[in-house]
Amino acid sequence: MTLNIVVGITGGIAAYKAVGVVRALVLAGHDVHVVPTEGALRFVGRPTLEAISRNPVHTDLYEGVAEVRHVAIGQAADLIVIAPATANTIAKLAAGLADDLLGNTVLASEAPVVIAPAMHTEMWRNPATQANIATLVERGVTVVGPAVGQLTGTDSGPGRMEEPDVIVAAALARAASPSTRDLAGRRIVVTAGGTREPLDPVRFLGNRSSGKQGVAIAEAARARGAEVTLVAANLEIAEPDGCDVRRVSSALELQAAVTDAAQGADAVVMAAAVADYRPAAVSESKIKKDASGDGLTLELVRNPDILAGLGAAPHDGTLLVGFAAETEPDDERLLELGRSKRRAKGADLLVVNRVGWSEGFATDENSVVVVDRDDTVVTRLHGTKTSVADGILDVVVSKLTSTTERTKEADPA
Ligand code: PMT
Repeated sequence: MTLNIVVGITGGIAAYKAVGVVRALVLAGHDVHVVPTEGALRFVGRPTLEAISRNPVHTDLYEGVAEVRHVAIGQAADLIVIAPATANTIAKLAAGLADDLLGNTVLASEAPVVIAPAMHTEMWRNPATQANIATLVERGVTVVGPAVGQLTGTDSGPGRMEEPDVIVAAALARAASPSTRDLAGRRIVVTAGGTREPLDPVRFLGNRSSGKQGVAIAEAARARGAEVTLVAANLEIAEPDGCDVRRVSSALELQAAVTDAAQGADAVVMAAAVADYRPAAVSESKIKKDASGDGLTLELVRNPDILAGLGAAPHDGTLLVGFAAETEPDDERLLELGRSKRRAKGADLLVVNRVGWSEGFATDENSVVVVDRDDTVVTRLHGTKTSVADGILDVVVSKLTSTTERTKEADPA
């Protein structure tokens, strides 16, 4: 389906990368209308934007008055993407200001809005910017990034605009999302990252989970209106905004945090990679090489199975979503492993995730199959971790909605 997409570009150095966003959306077959601010045109020229978008580019509020352009562009839009979104533009959007064509376009539109912030780390962390972001998230705006990395000067940190392909994938996933606020009023707990089991003060047993998939689920749930608690184990990426983040490291810490957060939650999604074993004893000092031999034997003990514990305890009204990370190459056998893991853990849904040296862990894309309590395949998802997150949440929403409807039928009062 061809979408009418407005790309707002605001005045930051990352404006040159917005050309890549426009180009990717045009190549994907969409009708793209660029609305740059005056500041953006100092960084990237109008002819470039017109050539790449294949449409005229307007900035002036007082041009095209007869065709009521200040509202017409917004009214016609299916999706608005603002990349880069400067701190100033974010503040203006939060306040509902309409002192330029982009501000008018956003206010006059009912389309989903996706913003990709870009600014220096101090400006991003400033409480004013964070409060403005929280306001926009609360109103349903999807925030993509910022990424962590090298900024314009010599400094680096969070504030760099996300790469165009990530912004485009998130924006199209948002446009495809059936109902953007379908988790409003729900409380969702998500685990993300990989646990670390300490051996001594300097070493641990860990795994390669980056936290990308779990964070994508937390961000998508928050964008769809949920109150989100993220139990975060050693994330390798920035923590999402607008979530109650509880940092943990080991499996036992994750167990305590998730058991507490799960009380009364509508759904618990266990995307974290949790160690099944931990060292039987943690040395108080750095373990030294043993001069007498070449090997070292570690004694490990079983960690509690956290998901199975939640599944075995009464959890009326809390949907339990587990993951199964498996290296099995055969599709049918992979599915069978997932089904038996769901049964063993008492989960309501299980997301079967094939993993390997270059699959699943730490990648930007993922492929999963979601299986239900009756062993049926509910959906197969492939794409960015953001689009996979939205697909998993579509299933969660449909399960929560059917449970609510059944409860109302049983107790109409
Ligand atoms: O973080 P990324 O780099 O984006 O990678 C994402 C991912 C591959 C880690 C993620 O998509 C994934 O598959 N997560 C599950 C990893 C895992 O621990 O799988 P498992 O098959 O070992 O465990 C099955 C389920 O039981 C999981 O929901 C796990 O959270 C849970 N579990 C496991 C062990 C344990 N002691 N307690 C648990 O609750």
